[in-house]
Amino acid sequence: MPKLFVGMKVFRKTADLKAYLKGRKNVGFVPTMGALHEGHLSLIKRCADENETCVVSVFVNPTQFNDKNDLKNYPRTEEADLALLRSNGCDAAFLPSVDEIYPEEDTRVFNFGAIADVMEGVRRPGHFNGVAQVVSRLFDIVKPERAYFGEKDFQQIAIVKEMVRQLGFAVEIVPCPIVREESGLAKSSRNTLLSADEKEKAALIYRTLRESVNFASEMTVAQVKKWVVDTINANPIMEVEYYEIVDGRTLQSIEKWSDADYVVGCITVYCGEKRIRLIDNIAYKI
Ligand code: PAJ
Repeated sequence: MPKLFVGMKVFRKTADLKAYLKGRKNVGFVPTMGALHEGHLSLIKRCADENETCVVSVFVNPTQFNDKNDLKNYPRTEEADLALLRSNGCDAAFLPSVDEIYPEEDTRVFNFGAIADVMEGVRRPGHFNGVAQVVSRLFDIVKPERAYFGEKDFQQIAIVKEMVRQLGFAVEIVPCPIVREESGLAKSSRNTLLSADEKEKAALIYRTLRESVNFASEMTVAQVKKWVVDTINANPIMEVEYYEIVDGRTLQSIEKWSDADYVVGCITVYCGEKRIRLIDNIAYKI
């Protein structure tokens, strides 16, 4: 029987969620910051399909925002989120307050080594430490058997896997493919901050990445990087922050295509008047 007829529970208190989960096995978990879209829903549907109990958290985690304005402007759409959770197989929605997750300040400092010293890790100091803090707090509360993460945040998956290894959580991290708009733009809560025109133009990002895959074999890694950056920057409303072509396992930049057998290109672009920060990635070799 489809789960959507069973009814979803909403929890705001850690103790209440823990009491509900007590004794349950086969718990799947999707952590989110809300403003839910098809990208999140693909994770939630898969979690509901693959587990007896599907738990989704909606929590805008202050410790992972290195920019106060970004935190302030982050879209918050609780009612719409709850409706989407209800109709997509979520059994338990967890919407804690900041005090509930951090009764005391979380002063833990993680050391993730080289995987954190590149790309988002250097551009957003403290970001992954905050992600590890909140995800580990949530794993402690939910104790999931499986947890679902989107490949849109490619480096985040590597960080979470390393955090799981270091802290010894018995959870399987399940990476899920990027869900895109029809235009190819990766779905993101931040897309709502773009004007309609900017959103249309932002399709250039993925179009360029995809085209670059077609001729990668005829060019060096450095040439592909330059072509991608120049092609996107040619549009006056876009500014590439970085484009790195990396070993998908170590996240370190490669020089030659033969340096790794799993190769991913990771990009961050500022787009439009509000300089909305968009991220995306594409595999060159799997
Ligand atoms: P958030 O940005 O809300 O994303 C929640 C999950 O949805 C992440 O695993 C993200 O990779 C995934 N996701 C977002 N857009 C997607 C898309 N277009 N296709 C597939 N998956 C997509 O990532 C976070 O929140 C936070 O850092 C969090 C892990 C919740 C910790 O606070």
